[in-house]
Amino acid sequence: MRIFAISDIHVDYEMNARWLADLSLNEYRDDVLILAGDVSDSLERVGWALSILTARFRRVMYVPGNHELWVIRDPGRGTSLEKFERLRAVVAQSGASMQPEILGRVLIVPLQGWYDYSFGPPSSELLESWMDFHACRWPAHFQMWNVAAHFLALNCARPPVHEGMRISFSHFLPRIDLMPPYIPRARRMLYPVLGSARLEEQLRTLKSRIHVYGHSHVNRQVAIDDVVYINNAFGYPNETRISAKELLCIHST
Ligand SMILES: [Fe+2]
Ligand SMILES: [Fe+2]
Repeated sequence: MRIFAISDIHVDYEMNARWLADLSLNEYRDDVLILAGDVSDSLERVGWALSILTARFRRVMYVPGNHELWVIRDPGRGTSLEKFERLRAVVAQSGASMQPEILGRVLIVPLQGWYDYSFGPPSSELLESWMDFHACRWPAHFQMWNVAAHFLALNCARPPVHEGMRISFSHFLPRIDLMPPYIPRARRMLYPVLGSARLEEQLRTLKSRIHVYGHSHVNRQVAIDDVVYINNAFGYPNETRISAKELLCIHST
């Protein structure tokens, strides 16, 4: 059994959707896929993408990204939290999983999350330009830390009894030093909306050995204090230099 990882497949782009639809129907039948969010803001397209993957993999483990919780194109006035509940039903119907599972002696734990400015305060320019601030809708009086706390509270607080390998994954970054030093200063404006240090606390409590994350679109593998952090975002069509645009095998048994 092999465990593959990918994130940020953004299937609203035709090139990305075509890559997904062209994945082999036979090659991954014994394998697990970790899909770390940002599939689409359309629940219909999320359902389509997950169905493509569950038809190809033994198991698909998934967490939504920020794009899945955009409500800007949704009819009605529902909040992004309500959309998350509708998303759960789409995921269940597709046969994918958002719960911890032991597969082939490997414990795989999805970690829901959001950003809480633990990586720094947002600038006025970021508050103006970051799409989530216009496309998500939260309950009245919710601050960003309330949003993050809501999702972090969904994660299993205590590590399940398990002797073997432990892998966790989240859409958002658990620590900001996962961003490589070459990121230009202007792009660092985004750091406050990249993740939460609480995710790092959770994955350390879980005793993860590998943690897969998405969101930054900057492909990277880095080992810090006995944990290997892996980003294998597919990314936008023009992001050819920072993403490999293929599935990455992160572990095999
Ligand atoms: Fe993304
Ligand atoms: Fe994202």
